[in-house]
Amino acid sequence: MDKRISFPGDADFSPFYPGSVVLITAVDSAGKVDICTVGAWALVNGVPNMFGIAMCARPSGESFWKRYTTTCIEQTGEFVINIPHAGLAEAWDICGSVSLTRQPDADKFALAGLTPAPAAKVKAPLIVECPVNIECRVHSKLELPTHDWIVGEPLACHTAADVLDGKTKLAWENVAVLK
Ligand SMILES: Cc1cc2nc3c(=O)[nH]c(=O)nc-3n(C[C@H](O)[C@H](O)[C@H](O)COP(=O)(O)O)c2cc1C
Repeated sequence: MDKRISFPGDADFSPFYPGSVVLITAVDSAGKVDICTVGAWALVNGVPNMFGIAMCARPSGESFWKRYTTTCIEQTGEFVINIPHAGLAEAWDICGSVSLTRQPDADKFALAGLTPAPAAKVKAPLIVECPVNIECRVHSKLELPTHDWIVGEPLACHTAADVLDGKTKLAWENVAVLK
């Protein structure tokens, strides 16, 4: 197997590969709702289960500015991890390019053709079209140079039966599907 090696600082250094995406929903203290596409997330603890999400919190260059979703999570301490199915690529593209930091009046649910529904335990809405929704309360936060690694403890999990029996495929190969 041929492999190319590159190092930080090289023009072609880019440690990005196909992976999964989730849509994070959160609300600010005034009740304004946001959705943010997040590729940097993981199950990070066993007992109890905990999830980590990397939310941009400090600016750097053109790509990194504080996501409004980061502000929402700071203000309310809650978020929902919505796992899309493979057919929602256009929606996660829109939610990953429109930012309420830059367009405060944008309605990302309307733009992305998504439907909000009330959660059981948190104020942030679930996304109906996503077959899995995990309601989380913030447990802790690690501040990295541009991102906050926010760890959340699940309070409720909604799972479509189609996912459990394998009929609905989750979007695990996001970057390859995107463009
Ligand atoms: C495929 C994909 C993955 C992304 N992953 C992340 C991520 O892990 N963390 C992050 O802060 N932003 C990530 N983004 C960028 C945000 O989704 C994007 O800046 C969004 O417009 C922020 O919206 P907001 O400011 O309304 O929260 C990603 C975007 C795409 C398209």
